[in-house]
Amino acid sequence: MSQNTLTITDNRTGKSYEIPIKNGTIRALDLRQIKLDENDFGMMTYDPAFTNTASCTSKITFIDGDRGILMYRGYPIEELAEKSTYLETAYLILHGELPTRAQLDDWTWHITHHTFIHESIKKFLDGFHYDAHPMGMLISTVAALSTFYKDAKDIFNADSRRKQTYRLIGKMPTLSAFAYRHSLGMPLVYPDNDLSYTGNFLNMLFKTTEVKYKPNPTLEHALDVLFILHADHEQNCSANAMRSVGSSHVDPYCATAAATAALYGPLHGGANEEVLHMLREIGSVKNVPEYIKHVKAKEKLLMGFGHRVYKNYDPRAKIIKRIAYEVFEVMGRNPLIDIALECERIALEDDYFVSHKLYPNVDFYSGLIYEAMGFPISMFTVLFAIPRTAGWIAQWQELLLDAEQKISRPRQVYLGYDKRSYIPIDHR
Ligand code: SDX
Repeated sequence: MSQNTLTITDNRTGKSYEIPIKNGTIRALDLRQIKLDENDFGMMTYDPAFTNTASCTSKITFIDGDRGILMYRGYPIEELAEKSTYLETAYLILHGELPTRAQLDDWTWHITHHTFIHESIKKFLDGFHYDAHPMGMLISTVAALSTFYKDAKDIFNADSRRKQTYRLIGKMPTLSAFAYRHSLGMPLVYPDNDLSYTGNFLNMLFKTTEVKYKPNPTLEHALDVLFILHADHEQNCSANAMRSVGSSHVDPYCATAAATAALYGPLHGGANEEVLHMLREIGSVKNVPEYIKHVKAKEKLLMGFGHRVYKNYDPRAKIIKRIAYEVFEVMGRNPLIDIALECERIALEDDYFVSHKLYPNVDFYSGLIYEAMGFPISMFTVLFAIPRTAGWIAQWQELLLDAEQKISRPRQVYLGYDKRSYIPIDHR
């Protein structure tokens, strides 16, 4: 008997099976040989929400949830946050290696020169109500980009994928800023190619009557670090959406729109908005114990806490918490931080949270920074989607180039009716 196998005995038939083990997993398809008789379809696995199912192999991001470790292509997030930039990290995530100076200059040049969007996109924005949620506008306009770039369908052409990558990473900030300015009823601000990636984003968001916008360097850097922290996170809900939709071989703009839609959900990237709503609902430090009671009674969630993978402190939350104070130095302290710190203090001591391994995640402190930087709550998830675009594209590309992958089409366990005859309406 080989050491790298699982021996399964089906007690219904007394038969035993040797299932190969590879990378600590067994192939679900190897279970199909387990049958009651020749007419039996064979054994499947049942795993709602994929809590214990690997959908792919990947070399992009590694997370150790118990030890609170996050690495992009083997580089710890703490080092990248301290020493890298978002565009350099995006290059790393997409290409697998840190760029040389020449490669980074070329990468930066191409993305900088793909920040403009087709003027017709403005007509789509004009169709949205003044109070349309920016995420709804972003999802729609990202998908609309697919109608302008027909070469994007050539997904197995590396040059085409590279061009769409420049366009998506370059244009997500522009689409986001245009949506923001639309919601304010302010004139759109075009990209300024003299500025950095985050500096230009701040320019398109906040420029008013000045001839040339000068981004605050502290905010520019803080946003760049936040973008690094949000760049990828292996097989999260939106990455799964990118891969699943991408597996039908649709163009990357439509797949990115699907991933952006998944991120919008309050259990995923939408949580950073919900955290601020929660902190405002709590209202003061003295009300925190009462709110925690509702959480422990399962009447409410402590938004920004908990994670499918992290059963320890999310390493990104630690860094974000530190950045918050850098931003507060410049923009003034967000008083909600006191309520957030009290929520964390209680949660880290209370057995309910300790036993459920609920720690602050990436969304718990990020909204406090965004609000202090002057963003409305409705823009918070947009600020998550922009940097995560690099991760989504990397996951999509890895899927396309993986010989083991094909169109995603899960099975089901059917528990419905057996065959039955149609009943005429007068006899129902
Ligand atoms: C992101 O996957 C990623 O990598 C995502 C992300 C990324 O970078 O892409 O990290 C970004 O989405 C971070 C998560 C943001 N969401 C929130 O902060 C929303 C609040 N958190 C929860 O909804 C929840 O923790 C999830 C959705 C994040 C994880 O949910 P799971 O893994 O499905 O766990 P679960 O809902 O089954 O909860 C397990 C237990 C339950 O209690 P029991 O029924 O077992 O007694 O923990 C409880 C839950 O009730 N629980 C919480 C809680 N989260 C889980 N109780 C109170 N408050 C919470 N926040």
